Amino acid sequence: MRGAGWDGGDVEQRHECPRLRLLVLQLLIVVSVVSPFLIYGWFDGFGNNWLVRRPAVVDVDSLRMRGINLPEPTELAKQLLIRNSLPPRNVDLFPSLGDDRVIIVLYVHYRPSYLKLVVSALSAVHGINETLLIVSHDGFYEEMNAIVESIRFCHVKQIFAPWSPHLYTDEFPGASPGDCENKDDAEKLSCAGNPDQYGNHRSVRIVSLKHHWWWMMNTVWDGLAETKGFDGHMMFIEEDHYVLPNVYRNIQMLVLLKQVRCPYCIAVNAAPLDVKSRGEGFGKLVAEKPGNVGYTFNRTVWERIHLQAKPFCMFDDYNWDITMWSSVYPTFGDALYTLRGPRSSAVHFGECGLHAGYSKEHASECQDSPIDLSNGIENIDRVRNINPRWPLRKVRIKGYASGFRGWGGWGDMRDQHLCLCFSSMYAEPLDHN
Ligand SMILES: *[C@@H]1O[C@H](CO)[C@@H](O)[C@H](O)[C@H]1NC(C)=O
Ligand SMILES: *[C@@H]1O[C@H](CO)[C@@H](O)[C@H](O)[C@H]1NC(C)=O
Repeated sequence: MRGAGWDGGDVEQRHECPRLRLLVLQLLIVVSVVSPFLIYGWFDGFGNNWLVRRPAVVDVDSLRMRGINLPEPTELAKQLLIRNSLPPRNVDLFPSLGDDRVIIVLYVHYRPSYLKLVVSALSAVHGINETLLIVSHDGFYEEMNAIVESIRFCHVKQIFAPWSPHLYTDEFPGASPGDCENKDDAEKLSCAGNPDQYGNHRSVRIVSLKHHWWWMMNTVWDGLAETKGFDGHMMFIEEDHYVLPNVYRNIQMLVLLKQVRCPYCIAVNAAPLDVKSRGEGFGKLVAEKPGNVGYTFNRTVWERIHLQAKPFCMFDDYNWDITMWSSVYPTFGDALYTLRGPRSSAVHFGECGLHAGYSKEHASECQDSPIDLSNGIENIDRVRNINPRWPLRKVRIKGYASGFRGWGGWGDMRDQHLCLCFSSMYAEPLDHN
């Protein structure tokens, strides 16, 4: 068909026509390649080049088609989803990471003065420049963001919980106008919500911490390009945990020792279970019940935790740690120990009531830090102070209070459902063939 005109045409037609077609084709290609950039611009809202931007971490629409119904993100939440997929900062300053690195995850809400102190402590940690620091924010606060953006001492990646109740002012996961409050009778008042086992309705301030913790765990292990193939350990600290300069080297040593000295340990810790204790100070390693300061574990353990997503999300207690002890760990079968040194290398200094620090209005309830650094940091805390040949003392874990049903605060089915969505938002789509 195409050849018909050529064969019958004169010389001029035979040469000019294909050249014109080629030109039009070339023009079409150029236009189709360039036009998206003309329409959307070369840069996104954060000044990142379009060509190197990576896909958003969570595609809410395609998850919905798979039956995973996350709440519709607000405009800010949508921007946070894009931010979460940005590469870490300072990659140019530290071209390679240590093979034996322990990734540090710092989870924060809104206590800027605390965060400043913790960041300055982290800057003095020996070995910090060999690893990645992930800061997970419960919501978005510009002051908190600015403190983290000032970090120059290691690779740092920020993630922001896009379904933080703090980002939703008049709808779930925030409080909605039609919600029941306190001990309201849902039927009489025809308000929304299920009360917990003690008859209390959900409180946004109370549920946000457990939501953030579970969203963060799922995200750092399963939702980031930076950690996808990582099968080492991650250490978790909060914005009111002051780390000492030896914390990283001590944790690395404990990770090695765990494998050979404490096969029944699932984690290592930077501090004793009792947050007020600085440790015994003796020449022994300690295996005990895992505490909340600088707990460190690997993907194998995360996978065991993740398998228990349903008990975690359905347990009626607003504390993530009590939920773990009451609904997740008991399924592991045996008692769970953590390995630590006899002297803490991270110190809990927060004096805010559990929730006082979690809103701007209550920030004043926080007292000054009780940690005494007036004499500076002692030399023993500047270098690794764990001796691998020390004997091990096992502090026997007393049984769980079996039958404990939780302190409540987590009875609303919407919270339980959101928590379950977090558990599956990074799962690969099932192949239905
Ligand atoms: C990391 O910091 C130490 C000092 O603490 C320094 O000797 C070392 O060269 C740094 N490494 C990198 C990759 O910057
Ligand atoms: C992860 O930690 C557990 C508990 O200490 C250990 O049994 C397991 O071998 C570790 N996995 C890897 C891949 O190192």
